[in-house]
Amino acid sequence: MDGKKVILSGIQPSGALTLGSYIGAIKNWVELSEEYECYYCIVDLHAITVRQDPATLRRNTLTQLAQYIAAGLDPNKNVLFVQSHVPAHTQLAWALNCFTMFGELGRMTQFKEKSVKNPENINAGLFTYPVLMAADILVYQADLVPVGDDQKQHLEITRDIAQRFNAAHGDTFKIPEPFIPKIGARIMDLQEPENKMSKSEISAGRVCVGDRPEDIMRAFKRAVTDSGSEIRFDPEAKPGISNLMQIYAVCANKTLAEVESEFSGSGYGAFKTAVGEAVVETLRPIREESERLLGDRAYLEKICADGAARAARTADKTVRRVYKKLGFVAV
Ligand code: TRP
Repeated sequence: MDGKKVILSGIQPSGALTLGSYIGAIKNWVELSEEYECYYCIVDLHAITVRQDPATLRRNTLTQLAQYIAAGLDPNKNVLFVQSHVPAHTQLAWALNCFTMFGELGRMTQFKEKSVKNPENINAGLFTYPVLMAADILVYQADLVPVGDDQKQHLEITRDIAQRFNAAHGDTFKIPEPFIPKIGARIMDLQEPENKMSKSEISAGRVCVGDRPEDIMRAFKRAVTDSGSEIRFDPEAKPGISNLMQIYAVCANKTLAEVESEFSGSGYGAFKTAVGEAVVETLRPIREESERLLGDRAYLEKICADGAARAARTADKTVRRVYKKLGFVAV
């Protein structure tokens, strides 16, 4: 377009957007919009690899779009869209399926984990999930893909698929790089600080962007810490406190060293209250603005339609090139 590098990322609308997604993803996305040509989507096609209630999925999708905008993603500076609105994703996914090996999909950690969690629904979509993700990325010729470290393996397979296609048909796809933010890449559950804060599973240790202040405060006051009393960053020995420190550092815009000195000598209770208050103030404007936007359904639908049209302009070009290389007759 104008020579800027391309970024693509997406979040599933499989549940409420969490503080983890805000800090680990969206907040960083906002900062990237100046420098890059950014495509940010809501990956509803991925969400149905696990059973979804249709009404809930529809509500979560619109809420997530409103929260993207309320969190600072300007629809004029970024292409914001819903994955199912851009048919090129599924078109490319089919072609890429034929360049992806059964064995490599079987090695995907996320597939193995989800199969254990949903033994009654190990469907083919769950198995080929990484191929659709590869299509999401490659269809925009993305240079960089901001993801959490749990998605690194999916980025690797995306690169392998792209290289395999390029080797067979000549240079077609840009080979994308993962872009893993230094801070806040992994916000953990407040009750089980060994586990990532989950979007799809409700837990007392999860905080969502749309939560009320009193619920946020309760979650932080009950956060699991350790038997010590020192506020020090040490994710191995003090996973709970370290997670709270990361959250506070981002919400209060301080370094971890500043957080350590600010709370040296204060107890865990006072610290947890301070973190809760910082989160409440960070999320309050986002919740209020997203609630206002959700009241304006026509506006959100227009954003969806515009985003899909802009996304399709880029994505359709890639699909046309791929189809031609494969030998499909053009009409
Ligand atoms: N698999 C990602 C996750 O669960 C979501 C996703 C789908 C994605 N397509 C993507 C992320 C493309 C980055 C780029 O977090």
